[in-house]
Amino acid sequence: MKWMIWAMAAGAVACSAPQLSQGSQAKSESESGKMQVRNVTQAYNENCSNCHGVNGEGGGGGTKSLLTEDKFDQKWDKPFFDAIKNGVPEMGMEAYGEGWDDKSIWSMVVHIRELQLRGLRAQGMRPKTNAAGLYEGQRHNYKVEDVVTAGLRTPWAVDWLPDGRMLVTNRPGSMVVVKDGQVVATVEGMPRTIELGQGGYMDIAVHPKYSENGWIYFSFTDPAEGANNRGLTKVVRGKLRFSGATARWVNEETLFVSAQENYTGAGVHFGSRIVFDGKGHIFFSIGERGQQDLAQDLTRPNGKVFRLNEDGTRPTDNPFRGRGGDSDAVWSYGHRNPQGLVMGLDGRLWDTEHAPRGGDELNEVVKGENYGWPLVSFCINYNDTPFGTPWPAAGQNIRMPIYRWMPSNAACGLDVVRGNAFPNWRGDLVAGGLAGQSVDRIRTREGKFVEREEIVFGMGRVRDVVTGPDGYVYVALNQPDKIVRLVPAP
Ligand code: HEC
Repeated sequence: MKWMIWAMAAGAVACSAPQLSQGSQAKSESESGKMQVRNVTQAYNENCSNCHGVNGEGGGGGTKSLLTEDKFDQKWDKPFFDAIKNGVPEMGMEAYGEGWDDKSIWSMVVHIRELQLRGLRAQGMRPKTNAAGLYEGQRHNYKVEDVVTAGLRTPWAVDWLPDGRMLVTNRPGSMVVVKDGQVVATVEGMPRTIELGQGGYMDIAVHPKYSENGWIYFSFTDPAEGANNRGLTKVVRGKLRFSGATARWVNEETLFVSAQENYTGAGVHFGSRIVFDGKGHIFFSIGERGQQDLAQDLTRPNGKVFRLNEDGTRPTDNPFRGRGGDSDAVWSYGHRNPQGLVMGLDGRLWDTEHAPRGGDELNEVVKGENYGWPLVSFCINYNDTPFGTPWPAAGQNIRMPIYRWMPSNAACGLDVVRGNAFPNWRGDLVAGGLAGQSVDRIRTREGKFVEREEIVFGMGRVRDVVTGPDGYVYVALNQPDKIVRLVPAP
């Protein structure tokens, strides 16, 4: 064993885990007396690659390639961890758990996942097309059509008016009306915003009874009073007044705004999606704004899913009422950056959210539950050091995801397939990824994971995925800025 690459954990730097004091890490280490790897890639290269290959291709010491779609499946997370911890003595692989702590063992699993995705992409893993250019999916064939190709700038969210016109938010701070694929108007009189890193104009949600009440719900980065370099997610509703070619935002009402002292200059993790439950409430999400320990603070807006009455008042049966700050509105906590939120056809609420590096999550969002950030995560740190293990410790009451993306897909955009265009996908979740440039179809039953199929890859960064009124699956892309849709094909 090459001790030079090891350091006692007290010396390890955890760039995305400042809340874990060096002292507490050192303590957990001295309890177990085990070492923590200082650099994940280097530890793999120096200890594992002579048998498994620098890229996981195998061949040394009787190993097989790790680069197979079967072994990429999440069901192998625990068996991989166990193999590394306990070794495969009869095959000559030592038990790394004798010298390494569990975080280090887990970090090897994350590293192998990164090698696998790179290797499998290089082998051509992606949705399959046939000679006619149609995608041949597991349950449906489909084709991808351009819908809007001009006039968008970092489109963030898409929704429809009952007459078929589409509303699209552009992150820099505009909302446009789209008719027959053409941007026909920019809505005037919308609130001022600030494009602070990932912030700006975000979600748009047309009330299910729009024809009766005319309400449109909207979330955006609200600039701090008197300052243009700090902001926080705010949720409002308003109406559109059309006259001739113009559209104007009127009757605006504020539904959620946090205290000014919670506004910060951080450019990350604003959330935010808005969902109706059909029972008079909305749910929406705010990310932890880079202040990860605040995701555990019920009084602060960071890292929460919220529930309000549709008029913005706080429901009396919310779980954390009366604790001060924003607690009256909190539904669940311990989230990192939920940029996908949807109510399934079975009435379950789902979110997708980012982890740092490896371990973006699909969670069933349940009243009062803790989703664990930053206490428990599948990830490693961006700087290639271990973060933790994805198993709650005894006494930690944390709800774990039913699916995790490893490596991260940078989860953004989530919907459920409705309508009749894709009968064999009906009720399945469709989940986008920015960095992953992907859309996955995920089937759940009774809240449990059933299957996953990648249905879009490599067309651009996916910011929103929405089933249209026609039942087609619309995808808002960035780089290039456009909207495409998946349409069933023979
Ligand atoms: C002396 C050679 C050798 C070294 C060094 C070695 N392994 Fe292995 N490993 C094997 C063999 C042989 C197997 C069983 C055959 C196989 O799965 O390819 C195995 C199995 C595994 C498996 C289970 C694979 C599966 O398909 O289920 C994982 C994961 C793994 N090793 C990871 C590692 C990691 C991480 C390291 C370094 C910390 C490491 N191994 C070091 C030889 C080695």
